[in-house]
Amino acid sequence: MKLIIDTDPGIDDAMAIAYAHASPDIDLLGLTTVFGNTHVAQSSRNARYLLDLLGADLPVATGAALPYGSDTYQPSAYVHGDEGFGHFTDVPQIGSDHPLPAAEYLVEMARVHRGELSVCAIGPLTNIADAIRMDPGFLSNLAQLVIMGGAVFCPGNITKHAEANIYHDAQAAAEVLSSEGNMVLVGLDVTLQTLYRACDFEDLAQASKATGGFLQDISRFYLEFYQNVAGEDGCGLHDSTAVIACTHPHLFQMVETAVKVDVAGEALGATRAVDTGVKVRVCRDIDGQAVVDLFTGQVASLP
Ligand code: RIB
Ligand code: CA
Repeated sequence: MKLIIDTDPGIDDAMAIAYAHASPDIDLLGLTTVFGNTHVAQSSRNARYLLDLLGADLPVATGAALPYGSDTYQPSAYVHGDEGFGHFTDVPQIGSDHPLPAAEYLVEMARVHRGELSVCAIGPLTNIADAIRMDPGFLSNLAQLVIMGGAVFCPGNITKHAEANIYHDAQAAAEVLSSEGNMVLVGLDVTLQTLYRACDFEDLAQASKATGGFLQDISRFYLEFYQNVAGEDGCGLHDSTAVIACTHPHLFQMVETAVKVDVAGEALGATRAVDTGVKVRVCRDIDGQAVVDLFTGQVASLP
């Protein structure tokens, strides 16, 4: 499967990119970056650093710095750290960005690989909405769009109503989720059933010294957040779960429903199942242990 990941790395993003690189089922063509866990320039720097660590010579196209309707953005550094990689803050600049902006790169690649390209969006949906605005045929050119986002049948994480990726650009999310296309929504409804604990990172680092060791290092900050704030003994494999949904949909129980996004007010970013509108496949349940084992098995095979 040809895949482009739209990402805001971000600790769980780094895990998802490492998984995609390791998976024999995925031909990772490139990354597009967006603001979210950190500022977009840091997202691109982190993406290029990670690809270099993985030995993957792939393009990184930089995208949106701001959500629709805002002229400022401040990341929640308490979740992924000041530079997006937890306590690892002196991330060097390696390589350079693809000459095209993210949305143009996505539109172009969807045309070139018409019907064969999957896109997995694991950050705010601004680049995806930009691509749809740029080319109304973008989604129909894709094999599928798989989104890590939303909390349709469960509480949110950034507020009680909303999941972070949707919340950070609710307008873009509303435009994407009301567009015709082959779309899967992988939300907190299932990603909180794939907790990855300190002992799992330790086992991974033993098996994969360079990659697993790096993911263990940057995850310490993330695990502290989950333990101290969320009261969880482990972090959600949010983004890896979305990438795995691209190739292993049989590990998920999905329901078809239209999804309404609240774009203002106290419930900003809420994602509600409604009767009318474009149908999206929403993940309602998951074989969480199978997803965790699949992630570990593939990433443990890396150097
Ligand atoms: O709510 C979880 C999502 O927000 C993940 O994609 C995480 O990386 C953050 O972007
Ligand atoms: Ca992310």
